[in-house]
Amino acid sequence: MELVNEVQRFQFTRLARGAEAEDGADVVAGLTSAPKTLPCRYFYDAAGSDLFAQICETPEYYPTRTERSILTRHAGEIAALTGPCEIVELGSGTASKTRLLLDAYADGAKEVHFVPIDVSESVLRESSRDLVSRYAALSIRGYSGTYEQALAALHPAPAPARMFVFLGSTIGNFRNSERVAFVARIRDAMEDGDTFLLGIDRRKDGAIIEAAYNDSQGLTARFNLNMLSHLNRRFHGDLVVDNFTHRAVYEPRRHQIEMRLESRVAQTARLADLNLSVSFARGESIRTEISKKFDPEELAGEFTALGLGQVALWSDARQWFSLVLFRLGAR
Ligand code: SAH
Ligand code: TRP
Repeated sequence: MELVNEVQRFQFTRLARGAEAEDGADVVAGLTSAPKTLPCRYFYDAAGSDLFAQICETPEYYPTRTERSILTRHAGEIAALTGPCEIVELGSGTASKTRLLLDAYADGAKEVHFVPIDVSESVLRESSRDLVSRYAALSIRGYSGTYEQALAALHPAPAPARMFVFLGSTIGNFRNSERVAFVARIRDAMEDGDTFLLGIDRRKDGAIIEAAYNDSQGLTARFNLNMLSHLNRRFHGDLVVDNFTHRAVYEPRRHQIEMRLESRVAQTARLADLNLSVSFARGESIRTEISKKFDPEELAGEFTALGLGQVALWSDARQWFSLVLFRLGAR
């Protein structure tokens, strides 16, 4: 763990850096299981973070636009409901939507505390530098590393309260059991009265969802394939990117879109640092990500069982996306 002072009012703690802190055991486990999988956090090297930001601006990718419209309308109400608090954002990325919250919390406040957490150090540093230059009242204590590492290392909560924020329906990228364990970890990091603001993508016509993960500019395809380049660099691999094709398929029964990399040919690849050789049949897929689509009532039931009560829910007119505010404890 290493504390870095970037610019005034922005310091961050580096919890993981490249291969040093990463043994790749999860990559080995995923590529040796049947069917093959890869953990989605390997999407986010510098190039991947940049591609993701571009995906968010495509006409097909409705979640970002829709969530932004909800925040634009309701950020003031959210700030009024929570009162002053330190804002801890998981997977903050470029934090472009977070600005709408910061606008509301900075309004009339002497100081605002923001704690971005992201596995992509480059995007964390760039977005934080930009934010402190825009908001005079803002101070930032960031963490670069995984959610789990950051939650374990988080500084003690300052008065009067904390709000955890998880936007972009990134919670949909967990499997059901992982999601429950993850929310329980956040709850364990919360104190009575703290809040949790969550963005969720809702169930809708599968064609709309599939289009969002198959944009016509091919950015999503590049994003998905970039994971292979990232693995090659990180673990000295020889995966041939052109030997794979991007696929995104909606599974209506499980309410989830699945991102896959399909092998165009029979091939064998090696990741030297992991001492791993993997063979692919022609047409065989690696599942790189799932993105679940939610029924807000069902999800609220899951949160209530974990001690998090729903305070409010906001949606767009088409009910495509929702923001939900939860609070720990009876207060
Ligand atoms: N909140 C932004 C970005 C969502 S994309 C938005 O709503 O648009 C998911 C973000 O989480 C990326 O910035 C990625 O780098 C980060 N991320 C993914 N897996 C992570 C993990 N396991 N731990 C920490 N950050 C992670
Ligand atoms: N959290 C985003 C989502 O589930 C991640 C994402 C968006 C994504 N587009 C993607 C992941 C394309 C893989 C491929 O919507």
